Amino acid sequence: MNQEEIPFASGESDQKVVKVGNTVRKEPSENSELVRKVMTVLSNNDFQYSPEYLGIDQKGREIMTYIEGQQMNHTEITLGLMRQTLEVLKQFHDIFSTSELSQDQETLLHTDYAPWNLIVKEGKLVGVIDFDKVTPGKRMYDVAYICWNLLDIGSKDSNFTEKEIFKYLPILINAYGEIDTSEFVDVLLSEQNRILLERELRVKEVEEGEEKQYREGICQDIKKQIEWVERNRGNIDEALEVK
Ligand SMILES: Nc1ncnc2c1ncn2[C@@H]1O[C@H](COP(=O)(O)OP(=O)(O)O)[C@@H](O)[C@H]1O
Ligand SMILES: [Mg+2]
Repeated sequence: MNQEEIPFASGESDQKVVKVGNTVRKEPSENSELVRKVMTVLSNNDFQYSPEYLGIDQKGREIMTYIEGQQMNHTEITLGLMRQTLEVLKQFHDIFSTSELSQDQETLLHTDYAPWNLIVKEGKLVGVIDFDKVTPGKRMYDVAYICWNLLDIGSKDSNFTEKEIFKYLPILINAYGEIDTSEFVDVLLSEQNRILLERELRVKEVEEGEEKQYREGICQDIKKQIEWVERNRGNIDEALEVK
């Protein structure tokens, strides 16, 4: 029986992702071999949030279980949900901290652990998806990246005031658990610059026009966020009680 394929609105990648019955099919990425191992390690360790890897279909696509819910939406983010998001990241990192997949590094990073790759149902985090960018590294990289993207640190469109950002940041990091906060600002800046570079490459991909202007706008926003973090280094360190 041929089942209907329902496309998802995809992220920035060109890979096609579709829903077929209660499964998801995704075209393989360059990192697919590792991605499959990651999903398998997560299920073997009873991680409750990952889709289960089910194999390859006739079109060569990865098959995984569909997780019921919605992409995490900024307007619905509560403190409880943000804390859970950091707790789940800690579980993810702890699982890989003893895995050979992390090579000689602290753990395996998700590298795009952000609202667009998190699935929420009834106000709770229920899914973590899109492992295409996993790579060995230091825990703080994912921690700083998710804090940036939950609180929209330094963005003029953030749902949080500066005062709230300084209040919530230590709460989120405590939800993650024991970690050296003295490197938070430097790692956050390095993550912001990594994304800026990716975004600048995307500007070059398109001809002059609306799309180019839109992509340039995103770069401008990130530059402002970087400047905000640089200006507020002292305030962030103080909030995180960095000596
Ligand atoms: N296992 C899954 N369960 C539910 N939805 C999924 C699943 N995998 C992907 N999706 C949906 O498809 C979209 C794109 O998948 P994703 O793996 O994030 O691809 P991309 O690399 O294009 O970002 C997601 O934002 C999500 O809405
Ligand atoms: Mg994605």
